[in-house]
Amino acid sequence: MDLEKLGFSRMTYSEVILTIRLKETVNAAPMGILLNDDEEPRLKVRVYESQRTYEMILNGAGDCVLNITDDPLLFYNAIFRKDEISYIPAESVSSPRICDCKAYVECSINEVVKHGGYVEVFLKPLLINVTRRSVKTFNRAGPAIIEALICYSKLLYFKDADMEEAENLMKRIDIFRDIVYHSTKEETLRKAAARILGKSKELFPEGS
Ligand SMILES: Cc1cc2nc3c(=O)[nH]c(=O)nc-3n(C[C@H](O)[C@H](O)[C@H](O)COP(=O)(O)O)c2cc1C
Repeated sequence: MDLEKLGFSRMTYSEVILTIRLKETVNAAPMGILLNDDEEPRLKVRVYESQRTYEMILNGAGDCVLNITDDPLLFYNAIFRKDEISYIPAESVSSPRICDCKAYVECSINEVVKHGGYVEVFLKPLLINVTRRSVKTFNRAGPAIIEALICYSKLLYFKDADMEEAENLMKRIDIFRDIVYHSTKEETLRKAAARILGKSKELFPEGS
């Protein structure tokens, strides 16, 4: 299995959950990955500052795992409920895999280039392991939850810097919650969508 067949592209971000280890500390966070070029290292990710992943990379984490899943609740847990994530050891790196993903790409961190506000991280894939090939119908609830999580992540940055953009993001999170409620009766998904909206509102205490 090669990276293109798994869906990685130069043009379109592949949304994965990146797990990383630094000494005893393990972290998981959703990240968008691009294929680099034909040269090594083959993958790259832009990691913004003030995040745990950013600090761990700058402090010397040497490898990571790209956990490939389409489970919106795993993305949700990787932001809001990190304690709920179950890990298993990887085969070739110190960072762990997340249980029950469809595929794993274990990578070494080859190069870290600092820019203002973010680092560009170049990854060398060491091992690709596909656990499942599944066919599934499309539904609107999962993508709406992922979009709401992305808006929430951006809100953390914009809430102090750009009130207009923050209000825009809040409106979108509200719409994504509606999409989830219209497209599924699944309680766990509805609760996740409502909680993302609730957590977003908490960023703006009454009267602020
Ligand atoms: C689908 C998705 C993709 C994301 N991609 C990135 C990314 O490429 N780079 C980044 O810095 N943050 C990205 N984020 C935001 C981080 O995952 C989010 O801020 C997270 O809480 C960081 O966790 P950490 O502080 O434990 O590192 C993404 C979020 C989502 C939901």
